[in-house]
Amino acid sequence: MDRILEPELMDDPLQAEVYARADFAEENQGFVDRFREYFPDFSGGRVLDLGCGPADIPIRFARLYPACQVVGIDASAPMIRLGEQAVKQAGLSDRITLSCERIDAVPGARIADAAMSNSLLHHLPNPLQFWNKLRLLVKPGSPVLVMDLLRPDSPEEAQAIVDRYAAGEPDMLRRDFYNSLLAAFTEDEVTTQLARMNLTRLLIDIPDDRHWVVGGVIY
Ligand SMILES: C[S@@+](CC[C@H](N)C(=O)[O-])C[C@H]1O[C@@H](n2cnc3c(N)ncnc32)[C@H](O)[C@@H]1O
Repeated sequence: MDRILEPELMDDPLQAEVYARADFAEENQGFVDRFREYFPDFSGGRVLDLGCGPADIPIRFARLYPACQVVGIDASAPMIRLGEQAVKQAGLSDRITLSCERIDAVPGARIADAAMSNSLLHHLPNPLQFWNKLRLLVKPGSPVLVMDLLRPDSPEEAQAIVDRYAAGEPDMLRRDFYNSLLAAFTEDEVTTQLARMNLTRLLIDIPDDRHWVVGGVIY
């Protein structure tokens, strides 16, 4: 099945609200725990979260690493508003900064000690721009962890995944999940992207039936 793009930004206020209310605790905690497993020596610094959404991952990351400052980037104003509320409620406003901008517009080079991104890449028409920007933003020797959905072989398989993992969720969330699966990349496509960008120290893994994860150190 070919990739079918979905809208890049999640900037409909209701869509952002539904996403922020959904329970991604297991997945998001799994993501930050995986970062610690991949990089046991990392202790802190300035960490970027590209496509941070409502900031659940920055909050979990900041709790796990008391010596880090997290900068979350998302170009959806409703997502950033919800994220700011969540950060304030978590009492982490002094350690988490959110910025409403497109990742390609983030200024500066070699500004971060680490970077992470969950569930962003499938939104982007051109994934190579993401990998290029990621490399530009982190300091040499920085750990990066990127995770996203895997595109299934058929629309029927995508629907089966939605039914298996999002039964009982609001229709809008189920629709977005389905569209995201159709827009996602395959393992081969991500491997090709990394090779084309010469990011050969980043390794891809398939942790379950619907995700890929890429981790490693960028030089
Ligand atoms: C599926 S959400 C993931 C949010 C969060 N990382 C999480 O795991 O809960 C993807 C987010 O990426 C944002 N996004 C998409 N394209 C973007 C771009 N070019 N620059 C910045 N944010 C973008 C969307 O607005 C959306 O909030």
